[in-house]
Amino acid sequence: MISKSYIEAIKSGDIVAFPTETVYGLGADAWNPSAIQKVFSTKGRPSDNPLIVHISEIEQVRDFASEIPDSASLLMEAFWPGPLTLVLKKVPTVLDVVTAGLNTVAIRMPNHSIALEFISKTGPLVAPSANTSGKPSPTKAEHVLLDFGSDFPVIDGGATSIGLESTVLDLTSETPTILRPGAIGKSEIEAILEQEVQLSTKAPESPKSPGQKYSHYKPNAEVRWFKPAQSIEQTDALFLLQNEVVDAPNVIFYHGDLAKMAREIYDRFRQADVDGYKVIYIESLDIFSSHPMYSALINRIAKAVGI
Ligand code: TXA
Ligand code: MG
Repeated sequence: MISKSYIEAIKSGDIVAFPTETVYGLGADAWNPSAIQKVFSTKGRPSDNPLIVHISEIEQVRDFASEIPDSASLLMEAFWPGPLTLVLKKVPTVLDVVTAGLNTVAIRMPNHSIALEFISKTGPLVAPSANTSGKPSPTKAEHVLLDFGSDFPVIDGGATSIGLESTVLDLTSETPTILRPGAIGKSEIEAILEQEVQLSTKAPESPKSPGQKYSHYKPNAEVRWFKPAQSIEQTDALFLLQNEVVDAPNVIFYHGDLAKMAREIYDRFRQADVDGYKVIYIESLDIFSSHPMYSALINRIAKAVGI
């Protein structure tokens, strides 16, 4: 049961953080411009970075999207509720503050019982990850409280099960294009669409994928790729390894379990800062490139490394 006060808070134009299967979202009524303004100011988010509309029923897509191509219907059927965000042409009534003035809107239905119940009672919510801009996305309620203060309204659903943000797929371009890799992979989407899908290689300043130009997912500790031959500064370093053996005190092994690594990585980043590590070394994932979480993990780690 979700406390009524959270539902009333949304209805009266306030913002509330809630869990999804990917990361915690910072929810605001998708039709209330001043509530959405609070989302931007609370996060310190640049206003040209558009938001994802979260819905609890497929029919709600029609309130936001002007065209629902067959490809979208197939993907909703296959993956919703789930960690796939679809970018579609918007209807004129969608607020500019949601889409940052683009003629498209991003929509997803989260696969989380609390999120679905919450949205079914409040109506559609915009919900960026509930972190201060530039910090790792929150995968636990306590991360939200660390960023926004200990009395910030957050519905606690425990640790999220996926741990990385949803796949963002643009269906308005000629070839469907993944703007942000996530738990739903390219080959899974291609299998449903029976069509090739591309991974965005757009210049980061491209208006098509505004979120990609900002620095993201960065702990205070420096994140570096681990190279077996390099001389290692072991003191104050945390190692996130697969199978490589190093003589260092602070090593966490994943042995190719990339789903576990995805689930934990933002918490590891945040905890590393609390513990005062100066460097986080991460072993290459390339021998696990066929794993479904590979692209998403590489994408987030590369951003944290800063390349
Ligand atoms: O898993 C998730 O998607 C989480 C949870 C809370 O649902 N939300 C999330 O939201 O990651 P946020 O705001 O942190 O990321 C939204 C991404 C950004 O990269 C943004 O640029 C992109 O979606 N986006 C939103 N609307 C778009 C649009 N119309 N066209 C292209 N990209 C869009
Ligand atoms: Mg975010």
